[in-house]
Amino acid sequence: MTDPVLDAIRRRRVVRSMTDEPVDRSLIESVLDAARWAPTAGNRHLQRYLATDDPDTLRILRAVSPGMIQRPRAAITICVDRRLAQEYGFGPAAPGPLIDVGTAAATMLLAAHALGIGAGPVTSFSRAAAAVVLDLPDGWSAEMIVCLGHPAAVQPAPIGARRKLSWRDLTRWAPAAAR
Ligand SMILES: Cc1cc2nc3c(=O)[nH]c(=O)nc-3n(C[C@H](O)[C@H](O)[C@H](O)COP(=O)(O)O)c2cc1C
Repeated sequence: MTDPVLDAIRRRRVVRSMTDEPVDRSLIESVLDAARWAPTAGNRHLQRYLATDDPDTLRILRAVSPGMIQRPRAAITICVDRRLAQEYGFGPAAPGPLIDVGTAAATMLLAAHALGIGAGPVTSFSRAAAAVVLDLPDGWSAEMIVCLGHPAAVQPAPIGARRKLSWRDLTRWAPAAAR
């Protein structure tokens, strides 16, 4: 039996070469809409999103992002509302808000894949410069940029590709509890 969700999980790959074709706003909005369904710590929804499809902003953002190999036609920067996080009792080192960034990112990458657009996450960027370029509201910390664009026909080789790990390589069963 093939399941479309499991199929999408297996087929999705990071897209690091994108065409010049713009991405429709409706597609970007669909990716943003998908993000709000991602699970969040305490159901607090502390992530905030800064979307841009402005070519000049994207060019400057790329200039401060060594990890942005692709030239995206749109980008969604996933931020944490640090003030709200503090109000809800998440200390600066609490893992929940950053884990939430990961759940949102994974959901967005799958949504983009389902919509037929390419997506690639980037964490190698200057947080301080991105905050200025994107004119982030006070209290928002930029944590990950999700690049969006139409995939080029040829993609660069995967980063750090080694043999595909099986779930068995990554997993141990816990021993049965003593009775
Ligand atoms: C936390 C995190 C940070 C990442 N940062 C970058 C990045 O800065 N630049 C980049 O090209 N890819 C980045 N990636 C994408 C990974 O390199 C990619 O998921 C991995 O190579 C496996 O490729 P696949 O997702 O196509 O299977 C990041 C992924 C994660 C989860």
